[in-house]
Amino acid sequence: MKVIVEKDYAALSKKAAEIVKEEMLKKKDIVLGLATGSTPLGLYQELIRMHKDEGLDFSEVTTFNLDEYIGIDYDNPNSYHYYMKNNLFKHINIDANNTFVPDANAKDLEDYCKEYDRLIEEKGGIDLQILGIGVNGHIGFNEPDEELNVGTSIVNLTESTIQANSRFFDSIDQVPKKAVTMGIGSIMKAKKILLLASGKSKHEAIKKLIKGDKVTTQLPASLLLLHPDVTVIVDEEAYRG
Ligand code: GLP
Repeated sequence: MKVIVEKDYAALSKKAAEIVKEEMLKKKDIVLGLATGSTPLGLYQELIRMHKDEGLDFSEVTTFNLDEYIGIDYDNPNSYHYYMKNNLFKHINIDANNTFVPDANAKDLEDYCKEYDRLIEEKGGIDLQILGIGVNGHIGFNEPDEELNVGTSIVNLTESTIQANSRFFDSIDQVPKKAVTMGIGSIMKAKKILLLASGKSKHEAIKKLIKGDKVTTQLPASLLLLHPDVTVIVDEEAYRG
């Protein structure tokens, strides 16, 4: 696992965008795995800037998002469908037909989860997966537990995550209790992984991850230690606490 420490959030976002751009230039029809949350916002802004100023081309790019809440409409600003459209997709020349965000409102959700993993494979698998990390070490919505799901699945959110994500909602009662998320196996199949972490609240999880000597389902991100090509970019605050 390669660890890059940047001074602050702006530098972290720039570095992440440079890495994404480098991979995009190597493969025009790259398949990107995308994350939501506050952390990748700076990366997305930088990619939008690169598209506008430098002509970074998304016309042949395919994207798969990690997760989506169950039980909120896609025109709700807290849905990840809304987030992706407004924070990235509508500002770049990506074909909407090539952007996939789990459809957590699908009729038969269990079948749909299997279909999502099948679709990723059909598109050739994820070349570069972007990840954030929860304060409790979750990746996607794979929460610490005795067992973790291999494929895309329906999951219950932990109190810690509901609490952390309540900052985006009017009240904590409005935070969904369930979500659909790519499983640990879906994530680990990505050829290359880029995990971003910013701020003091991520320090504990990052410290354990960077120590690098144990994997445990109680810190889902630690499973990434088994992957051959992971880069972690952190800012000083996440690194030093
Ligand atoms: C959210 C998302 C994750 C994200 C994480 C951290 O709940 N499901 O994919 O990486 O929590 O979010 P943030 O970047 O806002 O701290």
